[in-house]
Amino acid sequence: MAAGERLICAGAALEDGGAGVRFEVERYGEQVPAFVVRYRGRPRAYLNRCSHVPVELDWQPGLFFDSSGLYLICAVHGALFAPESGHCLSGRCAGRGLEPLQVEERADGIFLMEN
Ligand code: FES
Repeated sequence: MAAGERLICAGAALEDGGAGVRFEVERYGEQVPAFVVRYRGRPRAYLNRCSHVPVELDWQPGLFFDSSGLYLICAVHGALFAPESGHCLSGRCAGRGLEPLQVEERADGIFLMEN
């Protein structure tokens, strides 16, 4: 494991379009919530903060996808986000997307690439 990266979870912990794994990252000296999910085979990670109101997306911890498994959804007002980019697709996000985090998957797990 190189400097500047942190193990988040095992790759097997993420099912495509299924439950995600919550973790925290440091922003401006504070720990803030984040999450990683798997979509189309690849891990995708974002700050766990809706772009409408700065609340966490998952009402049930780890459940970030809508019932189709194709979109990330905010449980508060139902905004939809593209899992591959975090872009706002519909709802009160009004064109503002999620803040992406860089993650990489290797044989030994899924790693957050920290600056
Ligand atoms: S708080 Fe997420 S859509 Fe309103």
